Amino acid sequence: MKADTVSMQPIGCVRSPYRDTSQIPKGLGAKHETEGFLELRPELEPGLADIEGFSHLYVIWVFDRSEGSSLVATPPSDTRQHGVFATRSPRRPNPIGLTVVELLSREGPRLRVRGIDMLDGTPILDIKPYLSSIPEDRLRRGWLAEAEAKARR
Ligand SMILES: C[S@@+](CC[C@H](N)C(=O)[O-])C[C@H]1O[C@@H](n2cnc3c(N)ncnc32)[C@H](O)[C@@H]1O
Repeated sequence: MKADTVSMQPIGCVRSPYRDTSQIPKGLGAKHETEGFLELRPELEPGLADIEGFSHLYVIWVFDRSEGSSLVATPPSDTRQHGVFATRSPRRPNPIGLTVVELLSREGPRLRVRGIDMLDGTPILDIKPYLSSIPEDRLRRGWLAEAEAKARR
């Protein structure tokens, strides 16, 4: 490994109606339809050229308000404990979040998006176009598929 610590500067932050984690939908069947903005630093605006052609984006961000980390987590969608890397827990060794959002429009360095699950002011590390080439029949959903089946019974 070349470096054992990594330092990054956020490219911007999320503008969201959520001020508290209790306001964000959680658990099985939670829908993320909330709209907000990804606000980039103005000098980075040239990096958004041609982004309007993509319907969805990956947003890579920092859980800046999570405390500590744990190698196991019991997600709100299950009653069982799982290894943190098999979950989307905010309390992880590197507090990095990943959200797929729908791009609605662009206003200069601001992207209006739907599907945010981040608190207002969350730092953004990167944005990339969402491209999925994995056929549905090759995808496995692990413990989540079991939890969903149990909830349907
Ligand atoms: C389960 S995580 C999933 C986030 C992302 N979709 C992912 O998979 O990495 C979503 C939860 O993170 C918490 N959260 C959102 N923004 C946060 C922030 N800036 N700092 C700490 N926790 C945050 C909220 O409790 C929210 O319900």
